[in-house]
Amino acid sequence: MNTQHQYRSESALGQNPLSCRTLSTRRELYERDFPVYKQPVEVGCFSLDSERRFFNDSRQMRYYVEPDRNPNFNLRDGYRDRFIKRDDSVKERLDHILRWIVANKSKINPTGAAASPRALDVDFVTWRGHLTKLLTTPYETREGWLLAVTRFRGTLYISEVETEAARRERENRTERHEEMMYWGYKFEQYTCADNTHSLPDPGGVVNTNEAFCTVVQTRLADHRLLFSGEVDCRDKDPKAPAAPACYVELKTSAEICTPKQRSNFHRFKLLKWWAQSFLPGVPRVVAGFRDQEGVVVSMETFHISKISHLIKNEYNCWKPTVCMNFCCDFLSFVKRVVTEDSHRVVYLFSWDPYKDVTYSAHRDSQYCFLPHWYVEEMMR
Ligand code: A3P
Ligand code: MG
Ligand code: MG
Repeated sequence: MNTQHQYRSESALGQNPLSCRTLSTRRELYERDFPVYKQPVEVGCFSLDSERRFFNDSRQMRYYVEPDRNPNFNLRDGYRDRFIKRDDSVKERLDHILRWIVANKSKINPTGAAASPRALDVDFVTWRGHLTKLLTTPYETREGWLLAVTRFRGTLYISEVETEAARRERENRTERHEEMMYWGYKFEQYTCADNTHSLPDPGGVVNTNEAFCTVVQTRLADHRLLFSGEVDCRDKDPKAPAAPACYVELKTSAEICTPKQRSNFHRFKLLKWWAQSFLPGVPRVVAGFRDQEGVVVSMETFHISKISHLIKNEYNCWKPTVCMNFCCDFLSFVKRVVTEDSHRVVYLFSWDPYKDVTYSAHRDSQYCFLPHWYVEEMMR
């Protein structure tokens, strides 16, 4: 680590430089050169079926079928009678990723790694969605987060814990909100086929248990990362580039009618869309813009590499470098704090908007998240 970087990351620490117990999320502290972020490499994938069962293969992969320019998709169709919703009160933590690791250990342990004390040759294992939350933290003003971290055989595992506020919100969603959460999945059904030579089936059932997930490896500065993220579909052209470059992220958003709406779209939506897809190297987002009644009235493709140009004219807008530098410094902070190597110890990192990141340590607590089957497998 060079002196300059050392100085800059230290300046992001809390008020008392001797304690180093907190991490600031103030944007100004992270406005520096973009950190090294290596092109993510797909090292595998897995599928979750209609009953949320894990399969170490790509059976749930779907293929993007380009719709008409003015599609007229009714996103409300099927909400009452053709919708099976995943039970989001069930906390899966890192379990699916850990199952994938157990089934594919040889793919992430290059030869010779057996001599190293760590069981896995990466610094961090987590979900892409957790990293997305970290990237957007310097700009988040509404929702805080709780991240549980365990060091086990040298690798740091990061798993989200639902905050009290998030639980209350989940348990008290309005009927309108519940229905609107369905719309995004319905849009996927209108635009995805199950194989390269078939067409989408808008008459089928939408089942949100089903998922196809990519597993990628990359490096952010000196942090070697292994994470997984759900992928909506891929380019159906067999000549398309290899994964993750062939993947397509699908999104819906309210149609944009005023300059204020366009500005909000740039400031808030594009930040989330950029962070989610940039991390795993998914190059494009296909967006369906819908009216108040849930009818998709237009489509637009956003290239992730061009989003930073699109937002350049917004006053005081978000910056990719702030997102990446904050994430990088948070991971450095975690490495410094999480020193005890034990599956029985969890360090809980907590953040609320306008506050610093703080942490607490917990032994043999409700927060432990590495399952016994995983611990035993990795000790063999
Ligand atoms: P939209 O993306 O069209 O909003 P993803 O886009 O990440 O593939 O997620 C698919 C859909 O899940 C979303 O479609 C949305 O309908 C729903 N969804 C995902 N995260 C959500 C959240 N935090 N709150 C509400 N709905 C969510
Ligand atoms: Mg998705
Ligand atoms: Mg999507």
